Amino acid sequence: MLSTQPYKGARDFYPEDKRLQKYIFTKMRDVVERFGYEEYDAPIIEPLELYLAKSGEEIVNEQTYVFEDRGGRTVTIRPEMTPTVSRMVAARRQELSYPLRLYSIPNLWRYERPQRGRLREHWQLNVDLFGMSGLAAEHEIIQVADAVMHNFGAKRTDYIIKINSRKFVNYMLSEYLQLNDVQTSTLIKIIDRMAKTPPAVFSAEVDAVFSPSARENKLPEQLLHLLKTNIIDDLPLPLRSHPSVERLESLFTLLHQSGMTNVEFDTSLMRGFDYYTDIVFEVFDTDPENNRAMYGGGRYDGLISLFGVEPLPTVGFGMGDVTLQNFLESHNLLPKLKPETDAYIVLIGDVYVRAQAAINDFRNMGLKIAIDSTDRNVPSKIKAASKKGIHYAIFIGENELDSEQFVLRDLIEGTEERHSSSRIVSIIKDRRKK
Ligand code: HAM
Repeated sequence: MLSTQPYKGARDFYPEDKRLQKYIFTKMRDVVERFGYEEYDAPIIEPLELYLAKSGEEIVNEQTYVFEDRGGRTVTIRPEMTPTVSRMVAARRQELSYPLRLYSIPNLWRYERPQRGRLREHWQLNVDLFGMSGLAAEHEIIQVADAVMHNFGAKRTDYIIKINSRKFVNYMLSEYLQLNDVQTSTLIKIIDRMAKTPPAVFSAEVDAVFSPSARENKLPEQLLHLLKTNIIDDLPLPLRSHPSVERLESLFTLLHQSGMTNVEFDTSLMRGFDYYTDIVFEVFDTDPENNRAMYGGGRYDGLISLFGVEPLPTVGFGMGDVTLQNFLESHNLLPKLKPETDAYIVLIGDVYVRAQAAINDFRNMGLKIAIDSTDRNVPSKIKAASKKGIHYAIFIGENELDSEQFVLRDLIEGTEERHSSSRIVSIIKDRRKK
């Protein structure tokens, strides 16, 4: 027997699920378009090479859906959109006008162990700003990220934006703590998993990366202490005065000036991808029940040069629908959505052919209507409409067609009125606005 289940880690979208997804995407689009971002899209399949250079080992080796097409090419179902948008910008590097503001809401596939907040297929709002090297770019992108949350009704106390700098991390590990490249990249991966690792295991993992003499000099302890620092002024002086920290400070000042109090320096924030070059950020729910990163991004200035074109300064972020939906549910921010269909037409008697003109009138006047022309009895038809959550039923029988006055039943209130078709249309349209 065939299974009715969708593929593991992927979702079927029945109308009520799709309605919620449409609501979420509309709210996202509202905000990003208000900031001047334009929508783009691209194929779901890309050559594997696109991800080999810069996406990072975990995603490429463990999480991509890779297969050979019938022509022998190794292709991947996109696990993220950043390489794709970079490819598109590189292809028109000269013609496009900068600053370039692009957004999309692609579905992405990652072979992960499905769990709360993590699926194999998710949709991700991608917002990217190309061509600005100054901090105004980070400032804008973080403001967009914040405005999206606001548009869903979230308060700034509901979430926190953690910010760090890859330049700072590199300096801290390779210069300040004198680690070599291999040790640095191993540590970045260990730190990236810090929140998911028990503290004792984490300390042991960190310790193992350092040489015996570094351990004697208590460098691992210094690092563990640094990873807990979230106040710039608490950093030791050589770190405090590094240019990357000055840049972070200026960004915090800009964000505070825009009223954003929910931003925090976090030296342990890494972001998994290899392409980030400077400021990185990630947004977390303040509710510990939903402690996954809801979205994140950062500056990735070099990526388009992989395509043999002049690099472009770029900042962007990706916001997943699964983590967002968990957030909205746990903060009670999901509205009860009504079905798109305004009214259910209940035909009484054998009027199917005669009623066509009236039915078309309703549609032409802008109503979304479904007709029940089955020969079930009227109560069953009404029951079907109510089960679908449709607000109104319109009854059409011989009498109604002769008098051009139709019965409109409000299935929620249980009331009934008799009106002309144009009056019915205006009642229903008024109701839609509520
Ligand atoms: P990312 O951190 O891998 O970044 O993903 C961004 C967000 O997508 C995550 O915070 C999470 O909300 C969601 N997400 C990722 N994987 C899954 C999954 N398996 N299931 C559910 N949700 C998931 C990127 O992908 C970067 N390319 C974002 C970016 C755009 N950076 C610059 N521009």
